[in-house]
Formats: sequence, C-alpha cells, structure tokens
Amino acid sequence: MCGIVGYLGNSKASPILIDGLLKLEYRGYDSAGIATIEGNKITCLKHKGRVKELQNMEGINSLEGSIGIAHTRWATHGKPSSTNAHPHLDNSNTFSVVHNGIIENYNELKKFLNNAGYTFLSETDTEVIPNLIHYYYSKEDINTTNRFAKSVRRATQDLKGSYAIAVISSLEPDKIIVARKDSPLVIGVKDNEKYIASDIPAILEYTNNIYILDDGDLAELLPEKLTFYDKDFNVVSKTLKTITWDAKAADKNGYEHFMLKEIYEQPTAIRETIGTRLNEGKKCDFSDINISKDYLSKISRIYIVACGTAMHAGLAVKPIFERLIKIPVEVDVASEFRYREPLIDEHSLIICISQSGETADTIAALKNAKECGCKTIAVSNVIGSSITREADYTIYTHAGPEIAVASTKAYTSQITLLALLAIHFAEVLELNENRMIQDLKDEILELPSKVNIVLENVDLIKDFAKKIYKEKDLFFIGRGTDYAATMEASLKLKEISYIHSDSYQSGELKHGPIALIEDDVTVVGIITDRRLVDKSISNMQEVITRGAKTLLVTNQEIDNKLFPNVINIPKVHPLLSPVLSIIPLQLLAYYVSKEKGLDVDKPRNLAKSVTVE
Ligand code: G6P
Repeated sequence: MCGIVGYLGNSKASPILIDGLLKLEYRGYDSAGIATIEGNKITCLKHKGRVKELQNMEGINSLEGSIGIAHTRWATHGKPSSTNAHPHLDNSNTFSVVHNGIIENYNELKKFLNNAGYTFLSETDTEVIPNLIHYYYSKEDINTTNRFAKSVRRATQDLKGSYAIAVISSLEPDKIIVARKDSPLVIGVKDNEKYIASDIPAILEYTNNIYILDDGDLAELLPEKLTFYDKDFNVVSKTLKTITWDAKAADKNGYEHFMLKEIYEQPTAIRETIGTRLNEGKKCDFSDINISKDYLSKISRIYIVACGTAMHAGLAVKPIFERLIKIPVEVDVASEFRYREPLIDEHSLIICISQSGETADTIAALKNAKECGCKTIAVSNVIGSSITREADYTIYTHAGPEIAVASTKAYTSQITLLALLAIHFAEVLELNENRMIQDLKDEILELPSKVNIVLENVDLIKDFAKKIYKEKDLFFIGRGTDYAATMEASLKLKEISYIHSDSYQSGELKHGPIALIEDDVTVVGIITDRRLVDKSISNMQEVITRGAKTLLVTNQEIDNKLFPNVINIPKVHPLLSPVLSIIPLQLLAYYVSKEKGLDVDKPRNLAKSVTVE
C-alpha cells in the first residue's frame, strides 16, 4: 500500500523520484507527490490521480534539487485529493514527510499538537508526523548532535500503528532521515548516491546494493555517510545485500501490460522455483529449513494461512499434503485466523504464504501463531521481506518481481514450491508413498513445458473474452483441485474486469446456485480429474439445459459436440492440475479487462501489497 521513493546525491532528484514512482504505482495510485530541497526551501508538488498527472504539473521540470522524497498513495485516511496526497509538511514548511502505513493514535496526537498551537490542512493521519518532528526539533538544544535524526526518533516513539517514513528538512538540507515499523523500507547505495524505496524494483535500475531496514530501525542518510540506529538510538551496523533480480525483470519488456508479461513468465518462474530442489534419484532438497522427522511426526495439524491469491494457492496444495503425509490441513484467510482463536499449540505447524511478504494480516497471523508455541514457515517471493524475518523458517519462490496487482506467476510458483515441500515432508517422515512421490516429482519437472503449451493456445480465449466482456455475472464450477482453481479464476476476473463472479463446487450447484442459471448466463467449468469426469460433465450439462453458455477447460477426452467452447490443456497429475488449468482463466480475465478498456495492471481500489489491516 502506497509507495515511497527518496534520493540524495549529485544528480537532479526529480526525474529519479518520478521514475521510481512510476515503478511503484502498483502499490497505490490515487494521488502522487514529490518534495525536493531547492536552495534552502522545500518545494512540494502533489496531484490527485496517477503519477503521469504529477509529471505534467507546472513547475515539475524546474525542480533542480538533488535531494528529495516522493510518494504514490492508496488512500486510507481522507479521500484522494491533492491536499491529502503526500508529502506532508509541518506548519513552518521546514519538515516534509512521506509515509506508508497507518498511525492509529493520530487523533490523540492531533489534539496534543493542537494544544501546542499546530493546525492541520489534510484529513490524513500522516500530517501529525512532520508536526511532531518539528515539535521535538524545536525542543532540542541547537547544538545537539544529530538533532534532526533524534527528533525523528523522538516523534516515532509517540506513534502507534505502522509506518515507513522518509523525512527531509530545509534546516538540514543535506540529509534524509528514514524509519520503519511494520511497513517495508530499503536503502540502495551507489558511491555517494543514496536511494530509498518501499519496494526494491523502484531503485533496481540504479543499484542492486541494498540495505533492508528492520522494525525499529532509523537511518540518517548523507551523501558520504549512512548511519543506522536501533529503537533506542544506538548506532548499529547492517549487512549490505546484493539483489540478483535484473532491472529488466521490473520492466514490461515489450508486453502491453505487466500482467500479460507475468502470465508468460510462468514457465521460467516455476523452473526457477524448482531450482535445485529436485535432483534425479535423490530426495527433495530442503536443507535450508531443517525440519526433523521427530518434529514432524508430532505434528497433528497444519494450518496454511494467507490472503487473496496466496490463500488460493494454499487451497490448491491442501490435498497434496493430506494425501502424502496424512496430516489434516486447514486453510485459513489470515484476517480471520488472527482473530478466531484457532486451536493451535506446539503440535500445529503454520505455513504462511505471502508473495510480497508484507501483508499485514498474514504477518499478524504468523506472530500470533508463534506466541502459541507453533513453528512457522513463511513462503515468500521477496528476499528479506517482513514475514521472512518473523518466521522460524522461510522458503522462497523465485518468480522474480511481480508488479501487476493481480497475482499470476506467484500463484503457480507457490503451488509448485508447496508441492515440493509436501514431498519433502513425506520423505522426512519416510512414508510409504514412493510411487506417488516419484510421479509427482516427474510431473513437477514437466510443469514448465506444459505451461508453455497452454500459453500457445490463446485464440479461443480471446474470442470468448469478446463474447462475455459486457456481462454482469459469471459462474465458475469444478470439483476437488479444479474447484480450488476456479476460486482463483473467479478472483482474477473480479479484480481486473469488475465483473461479479462466483465459484462453486460442481456438486453444490443443485443445492442453490443453479436457481441463478438462466438463458445466456456464462458458466466456466474445469474438468481435469479422470475419476470425476462423468459427474462433472453432467453438472456442465445441467447448466447448458438451463440456457447457459459455457467454456470448458479440460485435459480429458470429452466429446466436443457436448460443449461449444473447449480449451484443451495437457494431461497432468490431478494434484498439480491448478498450475495448468488456471492459466487460460488468467488470460480470460486479462482479455476481458482489456476488452472493457480497463487499467489491467492497476485495478480500482486495489493495491499489490496490503500493509494495513
Ligand atoms: C492483495 C493483492 C493480491 C494478493 C494479496 C496477498 O490483495 O491485490 O493480489 O494475492 O494481497 O498478497 P501477498 O503479497 O501476501 O501474497
């Protein structure tokens, strides 16, 4: 939610900041703003709407300063408007702040500042921060060393909630101060230049040498110096990480949208995620997490906890764990899990899936589980992300940066990685499922080439998108892992095409939803499980009889005369079929959105990583 960029060096800051904002727009896009130090004054320009509107603002090209901060917003407190946009300034226009997160006690702080004579222009929670900093700065002795950084630290001590902030001041115009708690922030370094970002891709073009801030960290950036402080203002050292993502991976690379590019990157993402975990004749390699037979044999239940698409990946892999290791698996939405007081103890294993590793509900669920004595495994796509620092163990998907708000390659990579983890658990437990384990291993290795085959077959999907893009309602049906894939398909369509859709277990249709089927309603079915094919065909026929038009995704030999629109996908083990069956439906959502002329990569009201509750 929201994107932060900052720059300090010898170059003009504004083009670097705008460029970073454009790369971060997927985090929020209802307003954008920039503040730079011009001479000994802060100049702040902000605009409601997209970054390109900020880019076209009068005065933007005359910003000459070589130090600045910028922000793209996803509104939480106060509607999208130029007044509510960041950066925010204190009353004396000497401190400017960009902020991600939510200040929960901002009303209380506002009252305190009002009593001290401060006034507020915006409806945001953020505006208290520059004023608090000004308040503490004024109280410090003029000769105090690190006066600016100290005042920011003092102000953050009053904040309840989550924040990543970057602050500049016309009183100390050579510095940026940053701090974080429960909201990501990184600093990139290259010679005497420093870059700040809430997400690595925003600055990857300039440097891949990155410091990742931890909760409670504060940093003072000067061209020739970078100092880190802990929450008690002690100087601490941090490890510089080299990020191996290639800057190109965060570009569209010739595709019209990030989503389409990411859909087509799935063979590579899956291949990279398998990496060196599978080796001919050997057990699956998970030496990075070191889970023992003794520990696993005492586990009575596994909980997979996540949000959105990541939760759907959990639903898709639940049967793999249950079939292979015979331990019951519950899949929970993180925002529910964290409050429903689940029956967990040291015999429960919690697996939290989060592409970004920054989703507030998923992180909170993981923390709660740890407090109950459970071991936790994080599955993330972002090295060093917040969740990976909370979990007992982390395993990474290697899907590369995912920019489009609607998640695609992360989903198929998560399923692949978790299928490998289930196999690993079965091997650790020495369960007698050798044949099935070997089949699954062989099939996992074939997934990238099979995904490629699905991606070559798009004409029918494009045609079908043209037929249905004006509809208001759509139904998805399937059984078992096909049902899990329909849930994700339905979410994809809702997210980017704004068409209402729902997914049902095919066998549940006649217990209610079939009442909604009438002439010309669209029903999309998935049939990939040989054992259930006849039953699933009957369910599809029941809707056709009631006038529905259908699209069927299948890898079974089904008489094409029965169904007018059939997308054939390669045969695959039913436990892995969501990796293939979802792909035509990701593409369907994409082409429907495109047909409607919508902003595919940045759907309304959504954000890529939801770092607030
Ligand atoms: C948001 C995104 C979804 C994503 C979900 C979980 O809602 O729009 O695409 O699936 O968050 O994100 P995570 O980063 O935790 O996987």
